[in-house]
Amino acid sequence: MNLILLGAPGAGKGTQAEVICDHLNIPAISTGNIIREALKNGTELGLKAKSYMDSGALVPDEVVIDIIKERLSKDDCQNGFILDGFPRTVPQAEALDAMGVKIDKVIDIEVADEKIMKRLSGRRVCQECGASYHIDYKPSKVEGKCDKCNGETVLRKDDHPDTIKERLEVYHEQTEPLKDYYAKTGKLTIVEGQEEVKDTTALTLKALEA
Ligand code: AP5
Repeated sequence: MNLILLGAPGAGKGTQAEVICDHLNIPAISTGNIIREALKNGTELGLKAKSYMDSGALVPDEVVIDIIKERLSKDDCQNGFILDGFPRTVPQAEALDAMGVKIDKVIDIEVADEKIMKRLSGRRVCQECGASYHIDYKPSKVEGKCDKCNGETVLRKDDHPDTIKERLEVYHEQTEPLKDYYAKTGKLTIVEGQEEVKDTTALTLKALEA
């Protein structure tokens, strides 16, 4: 199955992508994670993306389109994939169509802006392996330490309140129009994000079967 996860920053795309990845045994591709990894490794892509990402803006379309083209050509995408965080603009969606990629389902996770603020400002990510936690909803066993690799867990630079506000504005302006784009294809299902991760997961899995 070729799947797209849409939703505002912090709606829970990454959390649900992990669940679906295990459920369907297909890779979850997060453009955000790919860019963060490039940044960590100091590659040319990372340097190009840094100022956009830090300020909450989108990285230019041509950069992320190239990333996706290369990633989707890998063998592990033959039996399907989950796109988490791509497309983010109408030109990115058009580029995906132009590549001849057939999408089976688009799941849009809806969460109100006020809740997003609480989720993202409380999120902590492991600097080593990227595992994600939340100080209230999903705390690590030892505060500040990753359960998986014992790395340090930190607040992402773009999870500071002012940058979250900026990311939400960018989302409403540039990414939300994708709901219409995919509604027209008849492939869109809306999942209302719940207070508990397990409840959102139940709705996501139901949407996959529909
Ligand atoms: P990216 O990494 O894709 O960030 P994002 O979309 O802003 O998504 P997040 O990772 O912040 O949130 P999420 O929806 O995955 O939520 P999560 O599951 O972690 O992109 C970062 C930047 O990269 C962009 O700003 C841009 O600059 C650049 N970029 C990336 N892709 C691009 C593209 N295609 N084009 C251009 N630029 C691009 O959940 C959030 C928190 O809430 C967690 O702490 C979690 O534990 C908690 N939580 C999740 N579900 C629930 C629940 N049901 N109840 C309570 N808490 C929950």
